[in-house]
Amino acid sequence: MSAPATPVAATPVATESDSRSRVLVLSGPNLGRLGTREPEIYGSDSYSDLVSSCKQWAAELEIVCQARQTDDEAEMVRWLHEAVATRRDVVINPAAFTHYSYALRDAAALVTSSGLRLVEVHLSNPEAREAFRHTSVISGVATGTIAGFGFDSYRLALVALSC
Ligand code: DQA
Repeated sequence: MSAPATPVAATPVATESDSRSRVLVLSGPNLGRLGTREPEIYGSDSYSDLVSSCKQWAAELEIVCQARQTDDEAEMVRWLHEAVATRRDVVINPAAFTHYSYALRDAAALVTSSGLRLVEVHLSNPEAREAFRHTSVISGVATGTIAGFGFDSYRLALVALSC
């Protein structure tokens, strides 16, 4: 008789169909230019480095994350509608939309008023920068805000959503 098969530990593979909590990680305008865009403020790592880091952190936290970036306000609004329709919590860096987009605020409010969580993140600390960055029209409808920790702002948001 052959020896019984050695049990193999399951690898946490992120699929959209399992029961683990699913999070949309959304990044707004100009964040696709990370690495070359004002590296003294945003660092020298690229957007694709950010996505790899988020995937790694999500796997460690045993959640499933899907990362997307857009320069288009309408597309971002549609993704927030999708989060509500598919019951996914959201990490969002609204980038410059933070400071003036009431359309995005209203869409973010749909997320949180539907009982889902939405964490606003920023790589830099907008409060410590130019005056126009001190206003966030998103914060008032967000579950919470994390700013000023570089890529770790996203990591801390994923930790919060893993609880
Ligand atoms: C940012 C801060 C915003 O003021 C700016 O417009 C961005 C990035 C941040 O991550 O620090 O594009 O959201």
